[in-house]
Order: sequence, then structure tokens, then C-alpha cells
Amino acid sequence: EKGGYDHFMLKEIYEQPSVIKDTYRGRLHANEGLIKMAGIEDNLQKFLNADRILIIACGTSWHAGLVAEYIFEEFARIPVEVEYASEFRYRNPIIRPTDVVIAISQSGETADTLAAIKLAKEQGAFVFGVCNVVGSSISRETHAGAYTHAGPEIGVASTKAFTTQITVLTLIALRLAQAKGTMNNSDFHRYLQELELIPEKVAEALETNLVAQTIAAVYKDAPNALYLGRGYNFPVALEGALKLKEISYIHAEGYPAAEMKHGPIALIDEHMPVFIIAPQQEHYDKIVSNIQEIKSRSGKIIAVVTKGDTQVKALADHVIEIPATSDALSPLLTTIPLQLLSYHIAVMRECNVDQPRNLAKSVTVE
Ligand code: F6R
Repeated sequence: EKGGYDHFMLKEIYEQPSVIKDTYRGRLHANEGLIKMAGIEDNLQKFLNADRILIIACGTSWHAGLVAEYIFEEFARIPVEVEYASEFRYRNPIIRPTDVVIAISQSGETADTLAAIKLAKEQGAFVFGVCNVVGSSISRETHAGAYTHAGPEIGVASTKAFTTQITVLTLIALRLAQAKGTMNNSDFHRYLQELELIPEKVAEALETNLVAQTIAAVYKDAPNALYLGRGYNFPVALEGALKLKEISYIHAEGYPAAEMKHGPIALIDEHMPVFIIAPQQEHYDKIVSNIQEIKSRSGKIIAVVTKGDTQVKALADHVIEIPATSDALSPLLTTIPLQLLSYHIAVMRECNVDQPRNLAKSVTVE
């Protein structure tokens, strides 16, 4: 049932090239320059008329929402707010009939997300679901939606659900950008082609497994860890930290790299591993200077870089190389080695990877 893997989590990490393809199958038509998603086409006017998009979710799904915020705003120029479902539902939020709410949930059963959806509906918003489990409560409660076709996710730590959520949300953002005319035609075509290449690039990113294992052996006993990223990869830093803490019980925090100097840099010493997501992208020079700041305080630097990188490589203690892609799609690749690192660290610490203590696969209580 684990398909020859030691754990469901590892199996699910390795399924990502194929499930990302399943997620865009029938939707992404790169050669024709088309994106076809019934849930979007049927409700296109609602999206086009939206004054803003509110994204509500919990945990890893909330991190996918943060990635989507950057993508929607960049591609479709629609203002986006991302909120924890638990905060949204209890704080008397402003919801207008011109709001489109996107609820993201792997299980489709998360109690807080479900309650937030009901609240948004009561106030007249149009609610669109991004779920993995077909027929789940959230998929039934929403007005329309798009499934991530990730297949059953058994490991409690969410992996393939995250990358397929980002895939679906990217498709939606691209379709809206096309309809709104906020992206020129050649960029649109370029993104479709880039997206189609993602599964094979994820497969390439999975080849970092041995490097990840070697690095895991060095840092498995660290009591703390920091994860840093900028732009599209800031949420990946949050997700990297969550993955580490939930399965290995190492205290980890994710930050936007530039926030370091506003406090967390005080934590840096020779015992602190700092995982930095530093692909060749916009503001690369900024992340290089962030790395220099950490290095000058003796922090240990483990960097996820684009293949062929030299600048970060010269500074870092360890590098993990991933293929190049466009900035907006990079989270689909940078996430992979961080999943592998957490997995190996947890295994080396003899933790129950698939069923970490105190956690349940779907959180149906408040
Ligand atoms: C983290 C994890 C949780 C879930 C969260 C939301 O690995 O699994 O943080 O992401 O409980 O669950 P769903 O997406 O089912 O609503």
C-alpha cells in the first residue's frame, strides 16, 4: 500500500510529478493557449467583477493561499486577502456581495474553514472551493469549485496536496489574467508552457533526495531552525518550517528574509541552521545580502538554489540545486527539497512520520 516506500509521506512526496499532471490534465492546453476549468467558466463574471478575493484556509492550505495571493495579484491584478479561517469566522469580518471567497482544504472537512464558508455565504459572497476530497463537506457547501486531483493523502503532513493546490490556483489566476487582459498574450503562452514542464522539473527536484539526506544527518539534533524566503517563496519558508516542526518536533520558524533584521537575527549563532530559499529570481541580490548577514553571525546556511548558481554557493554551508523556472512557479520546485529534508530528519529522529503526535489528518473540531 505504501508502494515500496517506507512511509506514506515519502510515497506522496514522490507522487508529485504525476499528481500535478493529473491536476492540470484536461484544464491546461498549452499548445492551443487555453485553460478550461468548468467551475471558473461557469462563474467567470463573478470573478471578473470581484472587488477582491478573500482566501480562507488553515495550516498548509493557508500557505498555499499565501502563494496564491502573490500570483493572483501579479497575474490578474485583483486585490487578495488571505486569512486563517479560525480568525475570519470569529472577528466579524467585512464581507461584501462583490467579494469572491476561495476556501482551500485538502480534506474538505476542516471545521473552522467550513464555518467560515457558511458565514461568507450568509453575507452574500460567492464561495469557491479548492478541495482534494471529492464529495467532502466543503466541496458540497461551496457554490462552485475545482478539485485538486492529488489522490488520497494519508500522511498527516500535507505534501502533494500543497503543490496541487498551488497548481489549481495558478491555473485560475492565469485564466482570470487572460480574461481581464492583465497579462499579455506572449507571457500567457509562456506560463502555460512553463507550467506544463513543472512535473518533469519536480521529478528533477526529487533527485536532491540523497543530498537532503546528507544534510539531514548534519542537522537532525538541532533544537531550532529558521526558514527564510522572499516573494513567492516567503510562504514556502513558512511551509518548510511547519513541515519540520510537525513531524520532527524541532522548533522552527519561517520568516520573510528581510524581516530577520527586525528581531530574529538575534537568534543566530553557530548552532542555528538557517534554511534559505534562494533561487535565481527577482531580488536575488537582496537574498544574497541576507545570507551574508547570517554568515557574519556564524549561522549555518542551507540554501535551495537554481542549478548553476555560484554566488550563494560560495557563501552557503550546503546547497540543494533545483531546476530553473519562472519566479511565480518556483514554489512548486523549492518546496520539494524542504519536504525531503523534514522527512529525513524525522526518520533519523525516529519520529512517527506518518502519524505525528497530537495531530489528526482532518481537524473536524474547533
Ligand atoms: C500540515 C497539515 C495541516 C492542514 C490543515 C488544514 O501538514 O496537514 O496544517 O493543512 O489542518 O487541513 P485541510 O487542508 O484539510 O483543510
